[in-house]
Amino acid sequence: MYSSCEIKEKFLDFFVKNGHLEIDGSSVIPKNDPTLLYINAGMASIKNYFTGDEIPPKRELCDVQSCIRTIDIDDIGDRYHLTSFQMLGSWSIGSYFKERAIELAYDFLVNVLRVPLEKLYVSVFEGNPDLNLPFDEESKNHWIRVGVPRDHIVSFGMEDNFWGPASETGPCGPCTEVFYDTGFGPEYVEGGVFDTSRYIEIWNAGVFMMFNKNSEGSFSNLAFNSVDTGAGLERLTMTLNGLKSVYDIDLLLPICNFIKSRFGFEDDMRSVRILTDHLRTSSLILSEGQEISNEGRGYIPRKLIRKCISILKKNEKHTGADISEIVEFITDMDENLKKNKEKIISSFNQEKDKFEGIFKSGFEKLKVISKNGPISSGDAFDLVTSFGFPFEFIKEYACENSIRIDEEEFLNLMKKHKEISRADSSGAEKTSFSIPKNFSNIATKFVGYSCLSCSCNVLGIFDENFNELENSEGFDSVFFISDCTPIYARGGGQESDKGTVSSNDFSASIEYAIKKNDVIVHFCKVRNGVLQKGNIYSIKVDEDLRNSYSRAHSCTHLLQSSLRKIFGSEVHQKGSKVDSDFLRFDFNFQDKITREKVCEIEKIVNFHICENLPSDIMEMKFKDASDCGFTAIFSEKYGEIVRAVSFGEFSKELCGGTHVKRTGDIGYFVIESCESIGKGIKRISAYTSLKAVEYTQNILNCAFEASDIMHIKVSDLPKSVSNFSASKKESVLKKIDKSSLIFLNTKIPFAYCICEDNFSNGVVTDTSEDISGIFVMISSGKNRISFSVRKKLDMNAKDLLLKFLSKVGGKGGGNNRISSGGFSVNSDELVKFLKETYEGKI
Ligand code: SER
Repeated sequence: MYSSCEIKEKFLDFFVKNGHLEIDGSSVIPKNDPTLLYINAGMASIKNYFTGDEIPPKRELCDVQSCIRTIDIDDIGDRYHLTSFQMLGSWSIGSYFKERAIELAYDFLVNVLRVPLEKLYVSVFEGNPDLNLPFDEESKNHWIRVGVPRDHIVSFGMEDNFWGPASETGPCGPCTEVFYDTGFGPEYVEGGVFDTSRYIEIWNAGVFMMFNKNSEGSFSNLAFNSVDTGAGLERLTMTLNGLKSVYDIDLLLPICNFIKSRFGFEDDMRSVRILTDHLRTSSLILSEGQEISNEGRGYIPRKLIRKCISILKKNEKHTGADISEIVEFITDMDENLKKNKEKIISSFNQEKDKFEGIFKSGFEKLKVISKNGPISSGDAFDLVTSFGFPFEFIKEYACENSIRIDEEEFLNLMKKHKEISRADSSGAEKTSFSIPKNFSNIATKFVGYSCLSCSCNVLGIFDENFNELENSEGFDSVFFISDCTPIYARGGGQESDKGTVSSNDFSASIEYAIKKNDVIVHFCKVRNGVLQKGNIYSIKVDEDLRNSYSRAHSCTHLLQSSLRKIFGSEVHQKGSKVDSDFLRFDFNFQDKITREKVCEIEKIVNFHICENLPSDIMEMKFKDASDCGFTAIFSEKYGEIVRAVSFGEFSKELCGGTHVKRTGDIGYFVIESCESIGKGIKRISAYTSLKAVEYTQNILNCAFEASDIMHIKVSDLPKSVSNFSASKKESVLKKIDKSSLIFLNTKIPFAYCICEDNFSNGVVTDTSEDISGIFVMISSGKNRISFSVRKKLDMNAKDLLLKFLSKVGGKGGGNNRISSGGFSVNSDELVKFLKETYEGKI
């Protein structure tokens, strides 16, 4: 018998003895990799080594890495599947390749683990002609050379013998895997079926990392070749010990036994395995401090824990045992988890309490709706979506009590709901809402012009679809309405404030607020406790953010007055956005605004900032305000009483936004861009305060850097750059001599031409003018290729390019008419491929 610990030590010892450096496994939560939910392979946390983006401490490495794979989450309960496991990994980063990798694998299996040769089978990559990937004969020959019998070598395609990438993009390549013959099941005969429940895969003994999969789906060659190996410790321990289930190994059996004895689950192995696996994985995730939530990473522990609680609720045997005992047992078994025991148990219990509350009220509701006959699909849907109640439980309850339920209709409703939620783009801020009718008379008192905090009475709480709730229990985020608030709701071009809402036993962050008529609705994310309708809370505005809005808003007023001063009083606001020290102002103006004019605008605005004019804000009758020369926005509807905001005599506007006390508070103003966004409409985007300083510094830094590179003064830059660009233009092709076009033998007119220099898309379009089909232009010097496709053809230039590049290696993009990219073979080979791909085929 090998213990899992022994196997782990033997693996690391072996690779260290063979020149590898042992590194620490990383957290299961990926760093800086939003494309990956959790670390799912040993190489996932070190993938930058393979691309050359980071330098490894040594080119030969090994480690043990905890991994989480959630793809099979619903299969858990059988003998093999696990959502988390430890992966033994070894790597050559641009050091040895196939030959040495196979020698090492063989040596470790046969001489260290003493696997009998007759039990060893290996698979190699059979190739993929579509992707131009050849059969991996090399690996096959190396396996034969070290001693694996020919008839123990099988070959498979992309699905089984091409690994990666770990997420959507990244390093990947063909691989060779090792299988162990358990002797149970049909025997493999050459050319016959290879039954993978008899021959258990124990080691991916070498992913031969040669490619990088790019975001548009093409493969490019990595700068150097590497080897990535990985073996699941749990699976390896099971197989080497001749066990039938992974749950029988030393890392898992004690947990299963504990659950069986403590909860009286003697015969229900499926439930025991789910509890063992799910709580082990949840403990691992919680030990890393991952917060539980309704989306992404945070949703995985929620799903796992809720499933376990439902299983226990369903099978309540009244043994007096509590689910937290299992989590404690699991954490005590593992040194690393034990260090974080407190954190794990407290997050676990929080989620447990949350869900038990939901479960209790959901269960009561379930009893009521099933009292008088079948459970309607709509009721089941409400239970699942509003209470977060597990459908499986409803189904089983219905079955046990012989109540009918229309599962198909329920699934249809769920599908529609998911589609709508997806279209609603999860987490996106709402811009409008409709609250239940009984709230339509409510007016929220906005106190935020003068106070940045207040206490309020919560009048209504709503879920994301504006269904009313009594409290926020079970929800990570809710909308709420209060009698008063200091939070400025998005309006008048100004962004919404952020802030907090809290009491002694509750706190939440206010992410934004929106307003309709007189009602302000806040969207908040619960941090702890429960928000209860009818209770009193304190609301506070994020002061720094508010000040940054006020600076930008007051500055927008100075900008409008400056524009009117320079361009005349016909200039009016056509649109405005006020964000954190950023503003965008659209106005009517026909002519081009030159750089000189931009400087003049900046100067006038900054002049009035320096003047440090006080703001004067008054409420007055609309008519009086008009008479005093306050500017109104033509399209806006104003009530009888308006808010008039002035900065000295320079700026007078009607406005509901928030403002600085004196213009000096704005600090500094700089224009980022001034563009035309439609006929007669210009848009200025600009920064205020420190953002304006940073923006200016960035521009200056670029100028200084460029002047350093060119060894000239900053003031000489424009002249030098213009000389340089003129000389460059000359070397870029203008038009191709038509006699250099080569036509392929295709049904659709198809021509290509090769030139030494680079070319622009304009040259490609000009040259393709006379070709009524496809035109390909190749720069042999710059390894650049372009496809141009005639409009009438039912073909897409980008698709053609990407498909072609996926064969020859390279990256590119474009649209349906024209596309360009770089290729990574030499141009003779490229032309050969071009002919092979298209001649006689289209
Ligand atoms: N990355 C490969 C796998 O996960 C080898 O470790 O199988």
